[in-house]
Amino acid sequence: MYQFVLTAHSVTRWLVLVFLLCSVYRAWTGYYKKRHFTKTDNALRHWTATLAHIQLLLGMILYTQSPAVSYFMKGTGPKSGEPVFFGLIHILLMAAAVIVITIGSAKAKRKAHVAEKYSVMLRWFSAALVIIFIAIPWPFSPLAQRPLIR
Ligand code: HEM
Repeated sequence: MYQFVLTAHSVTRWLVLVFLLCSVYRAWTGYYKKRHFTKTDNALRHWTATLAHIQLLLGMILYTQSPAVSYFMKGTGPKSGEPVFFGLIHILLMAAAVIVITIGSAKAKRKAHVAEKYSVMLRWFSAALVIIFIAIPWPFSPLAQRPLIR
């Protein structure tokens, strides 16, 4: 169970990142080239938020299974390193990022003007991208390191 959810959580990270990057790119070019808000843009907005929610769900399941988190919960070990990262920092930053994506997606959906849709998507999704990039345990991260592919 743990290995399966961990692998799924690791793979979905790439989907979330690719969709976020594409959304930000489309919002940026759409805003400055004054393009129409196409079905592709709307699908990207929708699927980026959906994938972020799936990743949140996988993360919550993983939280109940992870040895690093259970070590953190015991509270006997040192107050730093991987247990604190996965027990506290990762969940707080990622939950914040998913909330930012959800608000951005909902706001963009409700805007009547194309430029507003693009500008909302650009600002909120870019903010989420920065938070997610910081909170991923990249092999080069100073906070915690995990492989790029499971
Ligand atoms: C967009 C949101 C998220 C992204 C992109 C993300 C990404 C990742 C990545 C890349 C890993 C390393 C996987 C591996 O070891 O191969 C990881 C681990 C983990 N994530 Fe997330 N995560 C997200 C949200 C969450 C949330 C919301 C939670 C908790 C509710 C969570 C809980 C965990 C836990 C507990 C681990 C560590 C598992 C372990 O090594 O034992 N994640 N996450």
